[in-house]
Amino acid sequence: NKLFTFDPGFMSTASCVSEITYIDGDEGILLHRGYPIADLAQNADYLEVAHLLLFGERPTQQEYKEFIQLVRKHTLVHEQISRFFHGFRRDSHPMAIMCGVSGALAAFYHDSLDINNIQHRELTAIRLLAKMPTLAAMCYKYSIGQPFMFPLNKLSYSGNFLHMMFATPCEPYEVNPVLERAMDRIFILHADHEQNASTSTVRTAASSGANPFACIAAGIASLWGPAHGGANEACINMLEEIGTVDRIPEYIARAKDKNDPFRLMGFGHRVYKNYDPRAKVMRKTCHEVLKELNIDNPLFDVAMELERIALSDPYFIEHKLYPNVDFYSGIILKAIGIPKSMFTVIFAMARTVGWIAHWKEMFKPGNMKIVRPRQLYTGHTERPFEPMDKD
Ligand code: CMC
Repeated sequence: NKLFTFDPGFMSTASCVSEITYIDGDEGILLHRGYPIADLAQNADYLEVAHLLLFGERPTQQEYKEFIQLVRKHTLVHEQISRFFHGFRRDSHPMAIMCGVSGALAAFYHDSLDINNIQHRELTAIRLLAKMPTLAAMCYKYSIGQPFMFPLNKLSYSGNFLHMMFATPCEPYEVNPVLERAMDRIFILHADHEQNASTSTVRTAASSGANPFACIAAGIASLWGPAHGGANEACINMLEEIGTVDRIPEYIARAKDKNDPFRLMGFGHRVYKNYDPRAKVMRKTCHEVLKELNIDNPLFDVAMELERIALSDPYFIEHKLYPNVDFYSGIILKAIGIPKSMFTVIFAMARTVGWIAHWKEMFKPGNMKIVRPRQLYTGHTERPFEPMDKD
């Protein structure tokens, strides 16, 4: 009769040691390998941050060039994967397809099974980083019935993603540098966030020695929910439903009503009890994108006013509820022309590097231990089994 600590939702349980990301939720601080998120979003690009997360240090100029070349080498997906898409209904949610196709990569790279070989692990990491934008864009193209676009490797990581989303064989896509930078920033802001539900899922799956592509598929499944990565899609739905500034008080009242399951999407966080530092960068980027596109989006006004009212409301102050990373991201993505069903896919694509960094970290000496939580059993005590009379 051992005594266990009961900690549902892991409110106060550290599940691992990690050197990747530091969060101080009370102060609103987020550091990757020691670098503040705002500095990275302002001064680095996504692949530079990816290198930092995967290898622990920012790349030198030479390493950066080599890293980009390596990622470019692996952007294509196997032709059989393209055919695999055709097994899905066209109206499938793209996250359903992402769960399937990312896990299916395990069937194409047999060396990924050899997880004890460091070279194979490194190759799997690069393959995942390189192929995720290709798969994500294919989900979109499939849903609208357009041909898949091959990656265009002369473009940047985010420029290439926009190209695969919006170019067609008859019409190239002129990458707008402001939108390209905004996309890249969205990727950076979602790249890692320590032991969130999906990262913990990846680590849990990986702790049994499972295939890394399958572990990433598990992470994507966990991310899908509206309390986690699905919040960006849910948030834009909410902003559209509110529609105009005059309807905000009604929704604030609903969010405070304990008999109403409604929550303000894009608000609140398990760890941040202060402004999410990612939301600050996101709001600024949102402003830049709308200005560049000359869009006067009423949803942005609704979002800013909602934020203003919520942050001065005693309920939100007392509960320490602030906008999180998902509050403004949907407005940016929508302005770029990305449909809301793709929002969580983009989150998954950007978070993949964080998931892989955590997976890699598990192979450090002393880190690999199968995850096996206990439970508090509240069911029947032992009782006799009376065989059923089957005549
Ligand atoms: N609107 C209204 N009330 C809220 C909200 C909200 N968005 N979030 C939390 N609360 C209240 C909740 O009702 C509870 O009140 P009380 O203590 O009076 O019963 C209290 O705040 C604590 O909530 P909790 O659900 O116990 O907190 P949690 O740490 O388990 O949940 C959360 C964190 C992110 C799931 C939650 O804040 C939420 O559902 N937010 C909306 C969804 C969202 O935006 N998710 C994205 C998170 S950031 C990106 C990511 O991690 O993927």
